[in-house]
Amino acid sequence: MMTAGAAPILDSAIRSVAEAIDRQFDLLLTIPEDSRARLYDAMRHSAIGGGKRMRPLLVKASADLFAVSELSALRVGLAIECIHVYSLVHDDLPAMDNDDMRRGKPSAHKAYDEATAILSGDCLHDLAFTVLVEETTHPDPFVRCELVKALALASGPAGMAGGQMMDLVAETQPFDLGAVTRMQQLKTGALIDFCVEAGAILGRIPPEGRTHLHGYARDLGLAFQIADDLMDVDGDPERAGKTLGKDEAAGKATFVSLMGVDRARDQARALIDQAKSHLRGYGQEADLLRAIADFAIARDC
Ligand code: IPE
Ligand code: IPE
Ligand code: MG
Ligand code: MG
Ligand code: MG
Repeated sequence: MMTAGAAPILDSAIRSVAEAIDRQFDLLLTIPEDSRARLYDAMRHSAIGGGKRMRPLLVKASADLFAVSELSALRVGLAIECIHVYSLVHDDLPAMDNDDMRRGKPSAHKAYDEATAILSGDCLHDLAFTVLVEETTHPDPFVRCELVKALALASGPAGMAGGQMMDLVAETQPFDLGAVTRMQQLKTGALIDFCVEAGAILGRIPPEGRTHLHGYARDLGLAFQIADDLMDVDGDPERAGKTLGKDEAAGKATFVSLMGVDRARDQARALIDQAKSHLRGYGQEADLLRAIADFAIARDC
């Protein structure tokens, strides 16, 4: 994945995380010699070779603050990427955004069929938790339990899936800025918050020591989704690897539809400055988190 606009520290980190995630998916998703082959094939199609891998990178960047092992961070990154890819597969379905392209390839239901796409999303969801509960992820079962609970909460009705429901409702009902903010916090923010908190969970930092990380994640998550909505309006579909212009066509309320392009861009910039201000207590060990924040709104894909 090319990363125009990325700082050098970020570029090499993105590359190595992307390679490691691809390798893990390849190992885990061996195609069986029976009638489930198509299901595994569809999982591989969506999971391998694409995307910015920003969520696993966030886990790594947060884990770096607390001297967590590379393997632990990678496995939690793999779990969150499973959930993210499943959310994209389902998001693209005709019943949701009806998108034919994802990560520069045909979306799962186009490359296969709707039923296979739904099942492959379900299985990626399940794989996330299988990965988390294995001892290789962390030797302490309490830490693994906490990760499972946090990821389940971030993915379900109080997190991503709830936000996706609000997103569907936002096509047919008036949403004000407060409602759009709430929707984005759930739809995109909850999984991003999990990524950042995961480093602290792995590092056994108690909840009261995580406030600044939640502050960073909240601002980053909002800015990240504003950048996605801006890209939908004026991005390059070749670079983005997905069909753009869909939000307006669907009449979807977004920050951009409510504030206009210029104010939305200003708001995203202000949120990123605020995100970085939550890291002021750290030195260069937080440079990757700072670089990710800048990249979240500078990216063109
Ligand atoms: C796209 O996420 C969906 C949103 C939550 C905005 P990404 O922009 O991280 O997509 P990939 O993983 O790079 O394909
Ligand atoms: C999707 O948001 C967020 C998810 C939880 C998958 P979008 O519908 O805006 O994402 P894109 O633009 O299709 O990637
Ligand atoms: Mg959507
Ligand atoms: Mg979509
Ligand atoms: Mg979008």
